[in-house]
Amino acid sequence: MNKIGRIGVFTSGGDAPGMNACIRAVVRTALFHGLKVIGIKRGYEGMIDGDFIKMNASSVSDIIQRGGTILKSARSDRFRTPGGREYAAKNLREWGIEAVVAIGGDGTITGANIFSKEYGIPFVACPGTIDNDLYGTDYTIGYDTALNTAVYAIDKIRDTASSHNRLFFVEVMGRDAGFLALNSGIGGGAEAVLVPETKTDIQSLFDTLERGWNRKKTSFIIVVAEGDDAGGAFEVARKVQERFEQFDARVTVLGHIQRGGSPTCMDRVNSSELGMAAVNALIAGEHSILLGKMKGELSKTPFSHAIKSHNEISPNLLELVRVLSA
Ligand code: F6P
Repeated sequence: MNKIGRIGVFTSGGDAPGMNACIRAVVRTALFHGLKVIGIKRGYEGMIDGDFIKMNASSVSDIIQRGGTILKSARSDRFRTPGGREYAAKNLREWGIEAVVAIGGDGTITGANIFSKEYGIPFVACPGTIDNDLYGTDYTIGYDTALNTAVYAIDKIRDTASSHNRLFFVEVMGRDAGFLALNSGIGGGAEAVLVPETKTDIQSLFDTLERGWNRKKTSFIIVVAEGDDAGGAFEVARKVQERFEQFDARVTVLGHIQRGGSPTCMDRVNSSELGMAAVNALIAGEHSILLGKMKGELSKTPFSHAIKSHNEISPNLLELVRVLSA
């Protein structure tokens, strides 16, 4: 096992509340074990541009409670090219970085997997995405905060929906994943939830609304994941309005509000734990693994598995929505 002396850390892809707590844990754990830490700014973009900074204990002071990421984040097309990755490898070598902690989602881990094979630089990853769709962890950094933000918004929408006897379509994030939609829908008492993982049966949505209308229900909330196959919330609202003239429908798109804000305590604690585990794994000579939490325990999943599979949403929870709104 080669002893490492200097590690890099970066955040990449969509930012997520708790990324700062994770960076803090990576930096402080590394310093605790006598390692030097370099922060790589703007994800793979900064790695390609050599946008690096030396980090010490005070670089991560006063950030555990802050949303976003002090290292900034980006989605990088250049890193998909061999030329981009060559620059990144050159910069890591010049800075003496011997191993790297990546904090990000699917795309981040895919990039780390390719790069680390090409250049033999050890990478480990912490799951950073509000979507909660990474295989190998029951929980991703930022998911709990985003979920609570969405429920908080739905509660407010419920007040105005019920005051005006309106039907609201609330669009939450999730291009490919319905975790936010499903769980915020249940938490917010939605009458229906539309997710990308299952084919949307528009007739069944009509039936739910009709049943509600017939039993004199006056307001409704339908949560729609942005990636649902029936289209976003506007498109679904259009179809419903075409079928039922009696509903006074409105659409609210929560958008990037879900990505920001102070992380919940759960996000802070889990992100810290994963950050520490990532550094410990590198020190132990492990690489190409995603750190996660499964059934309350720390888990390690090879990159190759993490990127090939996806977390499935619970059929029980889908059934729960159906039963509670029948
Ligand atoms: O990956 C997290 C996520 O927030 C998705 O839910 C959403 O579809 C996407 O990022 C939006 O990305 P961007 O901010 O780059 O438009």
